[in-house]
Amino acid sequence: MSFFSHNEYIQEGDLVLAWMNRSNIRPLTVTRGETLHTQYGSFPHDTLIGVKYGTQVGSTAGASGGHDAQRGPSSRGHGSAAGFIHVLAPTPELWSLSLRHRTQIVYTPDASYIVHRLRVRPGSRVLEAGTGSGSFTHALSRTVSSSGQLFTYEFHGPRYEEALQEVAADGINLNTVITHRDVCAEGFDNPTIANSQRPDHVISQLRALNKVGVETPVEGLNLQANAVFLDLPSPWLAIPHLSRVLDTSKQAHICCFSPCIEQVARAVETLKKYGWKKIEMVEVSAKRWEGHKEMVKSVGDAVERLRDIKRRRVLGLRKRNERIARERVQDQQNGTSEETFVASTAGDSAAGGESTPAADDEEEGGNDQQQQSTELKHKKGPTEKYRGFNPWGKGQRIREGDERFSWLDVSRVEPEIKSHTSYLTFAILPPVMPEHLFNADGIVISSLPVSTESASEPATVATPTVDNVKVETTST
Ligand SMILES: C[S@@+](CC[C@H](N)C(=O)[O-])C[C@H]1O[C@@H](n2cnc3c(N)ncnc32)[C@H](O)[C@@H]1O
Repeated sequence: MSFFSHNEYIQEGDLVLAWMNRSNIRPLTVTRGETLHTQYGSFPHDTLIGVKYGTQVGSTAGASGGHDAQRGPSSRGHGSAAGFIHVLAPTPELWSLSLRHRTQIVYTPDASYIVHRLRVRPGSRVLEAGTGSGSFTHALSRTVSSSGQLFTYEFHGPRYEEALQEVAADGINLNTVITHRDVCAEGFDNPTIANSQRPDHVISQLRALNKVGVETPVEGLNLQANAVFLDLPSPWLAIPHLSRVLDTSKQAHICCFSPCIEQVARAVETLKKYGWKKIEMVEVSAKRWEGHKEMVKSVGDAVERLRDIKRRRVLGLRKRNERIARERVQDQQNGTSEETFVASTAGDSAAGGESTPAADDEEEGGNDQQQQSTELKHKKGPTEKYRGFNPWGKGQRIREGDERFSWLDVSRVEPEIKSHTSYLTFAILPPVMPEHLFNADGIVISSLPVSTESASEPATVATPTVDNVKVETTST
């Protein structure tokens, strides 16, 4: 199981995403004897083994998080009384919603657009800086797949360490190499491979040769990258280092991800200086549309509700004045009171005010006749407050689509729209013209496009794989 492929059924050791809701997705590595405790109950990992990915799994205990061993696997597959989760296979899209944010991250709407514009595909060789929380790293890694290679750089120590562990745990170290480096100062050449990115048997071999260090430079590696993604504060300092590590026989694509327009201006200036063409800045603004039901309210009901409020208010005021009068008489028997009456005619009271204390107070404003006309009155629970003529369940918890009301299907945009994330500056570096197309005076002697792939021998590219010994592979 990995971000590249997964089995149909969960196995021990799998990375599984426990979906509680959109803002609560918990990654877990399925380990016998361990239990996931959530506000929706407890989920022993043992009960997840053998479950099909995508299944809704019921908890084995209540929300208290206790463990009900007796119910065990029998509760699997269906939501129990306590609660449930969905067990999902990891994808970069879900991962970006579930990961622990160490930095700002690239979200899927930007990520998918950038991957497309950078022409990243299986087999691509991509440079990324900085790694940050690893959100985009996962998207790039999946896209380049096992035939491609991703080199990602992070200069912040703890973030590098965390990303390193994640890359190994998530199985994307198949094609991803993280280097601890300030790319603005030192560039991208000779990335390093940390031992945690190596399979165990290679570590043993290196140990036998007494060659184990924490990180080993990948000597002589020609990165031959064809796509670059820079998500760091000063991309203009990293751009000059790129010429040495790009595959100059083909077009190279770059994207600088910058929140401020000043950063864009400086990046554009530097891109021009270093020969990048077709420079373009884009901002992605994604809106999600959702289907909903909206309650249908008739004008007649609205008018009746206003009348009811007015009637109840007048009655409430009358009762209040009666009470004050009673208290006044009592006060006069005991001493004096200066309290004044509140106007009690319909003309004197504002018709729209629903919050007059007496209007909502059944004890004082008890309006038997109007209460009888209330459609929902008989449905109210013992503790529910009487709210007058209330054809729309105002003040109650109404589920969308509640059959006591009429509804209209509508679509609307999600309430929380993320506005600006970053400006995306794209550019292309044209390939270097092969020398054989020029004569000695530098004049172009052929305008025929020559494919470098088919031109002579296939180019050889060193790929960092199992150890610091170069492995020659054929580039695609
Ligand atoms: C906004 S975060 C990247 C987030 C990442 N794209 C993601 O989706 O999770 C920027 C990262 O770049 C790193 N960084 C900044 N300047 C750098 C440099 N010169 N070399 C390497 N990393 C750098 C920072 O430490 C930070 O972790």
